[in-house]
Amino acid sequence: MPDDQRDRRRNKSEDDITAEVLARFAETPDPRLRQIMLSLVGHLHAFVKEVQLTEAEWFQAIEMLTAAGKLCSDKRQEFILFSDTLGVSMVVDLLDHRKPEGATESTVFGPFHRLGAPEMPAGGNIAHRDTTGMPMLVSGRVLDLDGRPIAGALIDVWQAQTNGLYDSQDAHPDELHMRGKLRSDAAGRYLIRTVRPVHYPIPSDGPVGRMLKATGRHPWRPAHIHFVVSAEGYEPVTTHIFDRADSYLASDAVFAVKESLICDFVRHDSPTPEASRLGLAPPFLAAEFDFRLAPATTVPVTDAQRQLAALGAHA
Ligand SMILES: [Fe+2]
Repeated sequence: MPDDQRDRRRNKSEDDITAEVLARFAETPDPRLRQIMLSLVGHLHAFVKEVQLTEAEWFQAIEMLTAAGKLCSDKRQEFILFSDTLGVSMVVDLLDHRKPEGATESTVFGPFHRLGAPEMPAGGNIAHRDTTGMPMLVSGRVLDLDGRPIAGALIDVWQAQTNGLYDSQDAHPDELHMRGKLRSDAAGRYLIRTVRPVHYPIPSDGPVGRMLKATGRHPWRPAHIHFVVSAEGYEPVTTHIFDRADSYLASDAVFAVKESLICDFVRHDSPTPEASRLGLAPPFLAAEFDFRLAPATTVPVTDAQRQLAALGAHA
């Protein structure tokens, strides 16, 4: 090797390495992948240099990611939890789901959606095995941006049980519970029977939990019910409704609360026609929430949205 080349290698600085890595990715054929890789390498190297990362810290990060990977299964998704608790999921949500005025706002998908939720008629009870929670009716309409009803919209709903656990975290993780798929009727109306959702801590027995503990953060999410609402010709929306009375609304561990998704859960001590029809005796809670879908053409459909729509339509 000529002397001048040997000298250059010996005198390499950290910035030389960054430049060399960037140059190596500069010929990536796909322009979007090129943009992402160059930016990723630039920011990642800048971060490592800014905090002057030690080898021990770097190895700790590798171990943490390894532990996260080992925890993942069809019932546990530690990387989504990392993304959620670092606020990345909500930033992506905001960037990628610019909704037109009046459309229902989206929020995180979360790690607990499961395929195979049962189809139910209007008034179907997703909480049939939960005998301790306060009974609750959730109803409303699925509308377009002009307020016209959307008939036959698919409402994929899921929530935690009264013990604060999703079915996949509980004693019989293979049995689906607190999940259902319902359709809106000709007037766009839907009706779901459930129990009051509770606030719950995200799983904190893994690396995400250790990160929260080490940084003095709590793992709690305010009480909410998850929805993916989809209809032919409209943008599907992935969202939650939140209980206005919840004490964690201002400090959701995954930053997912939006004002427009906060809902009054109203206590009823006397029967209502809807409750009587379902054989539901007071006291119970009722929440009203209208989903407003944007037409499919107003925003470009991304692969992620297509995936979510497919989950709703075929699961
Ligand atoms: Fe949840």
